[in-house]
Amino acid sequence: SAALRLGIAGLGTVGAGVVHILRQHAALLEARTGRSVVLTAVSARDRSKDRGVSLSGYAWEDDPVVLARRDDIDVFVELIGGSDGPALDSVKAALQSGKDVVTANKAMLAHHGRALAEMAETAGRVIRFEAAVAGGIPVIKALTEGLAANEITRVMGVMNGTCNYILTRMQSAGLTYDQVFQEAADLGYLEADPNLDVGGIDAGHKLALLAAIAFGTAPDFDGMEIEGIQRIAIDDIHQAADMGYRIKLLGVAQRTGRGLEQRMQPCLVPADSPLGQLEGGTNMVVIEGDAVQQLVLRGPGAGQGPTASAVMGDVCDIARGLRIATFGQPAATLASLPAARSSLP
Ligand code: NAP
Ligand code: HSE
Repeated sequence: SAALRLGIAGLGTVGAGVVHILRQHAALLEARTGRSVVLTAVSARDRSKDRGVSLSGYAWEDDPVVLARRDDIDVFVELIGGSDGPALDSVKAALQSGKDVVTANKAMLAHHGRALAEMAETAGRVIRFEAAVAGGIPVIKALTEGLAANEITRVMGVMNGTCNYILTRMQSAGLTYDQVFQEAADLGYLEADPNLDVGGIDAGHKLALLAAIAFGTAPDFDGMEIEGIQRIAIDDIHQAADMGYRIKLLGVAQRTGRGLEQRMQPCLVPADSPLGQLEGGTNMVVIEGDAVQQLVLRGPGAGQGPTASAVMGDVCDIARGLRIATFGQPAATLASLPAARSSLP
């Protein structure tokens, strides 16, 4: 088969990781997909920046929209970030010019997911976004593929590596908020605006995407109840520990008779439970389905390698010819449910 040609916009933590995998694993990718996967062109703001990976041999575009429209790419990989602006503009340009899209951008999809899904279907293209939720854990593939025959009853979990890192390191290492925040930054966990992390917004974006796939609804970020970890003090963490609990930023989504219930907030969980033992940037997603019963997926939720792994898994799907609707079913069939206030314990 002809080579699959990629254009990557955004060469930060995730983008550089994707370039690294493409350079390191060219032979493996060809063996697994049956065609070579090549990088044609890249875009970022600063052409002179050292990104820890060679960019020789790739065309450079200053403008990601121009990159998205190039005739010599088949797949546009958006790794800029932000719900609007250059990320959204370039993804639209890519779809309109006949490219498939792979993105890690949960903010963009939580706000514009349905419109982009419709745009992709009209253009006969696909949008894949495994890296947008829970980093290296293939939870979107689990829901859209392996669990496609289940009625999903609930999805829940810890979906922000930064918050879990801060909450666990403050307690276990006795470090200050500023120290652990800097560690999370050094590990490449933070959003460009870290208030999205500690405010529960980033985890909320992810939960909205999982709920859409799980319950066949359009993403409804605005209907979610969200509380971040900013008001959790070190004393709260120690008091919880004294009582045998840990504080976790926990998301829960379920479909009820009153509509779609989505909550993201700090919760007390038993210290000796799987959730209570979740350390550092690790994420955990629990999925309950009528046939499968309960699945627990656990793994690195942020950082360069895990996130690039998920991006490249999507690229491999496209190279193999897998065409799955953005939220697992045609956009026109996604329901709009009323937001139900929480009734969970
Ligand atoms: P990042 O390190 O801040 O990288 C962003 C990249 O976008 C940079 O290379 C930047 O260029 C480029 N960029 C910004 N504005 C641009 C513009 N107008 N035109 C062209 N390029 C532009 O971010 P990241 O951590 O890699 O995250 C990228 C995406 O992945 C975000 O959607 C994020 O939410 C998502 N994500 C991140 C992680 C993670 O662990 N980091 C995990 C899952 C998902 P310069 O380098 O030249 O400044
Ligand atoms: N800022 C996010 C986190 C990156 O800390 O989980 C992964 O989506």
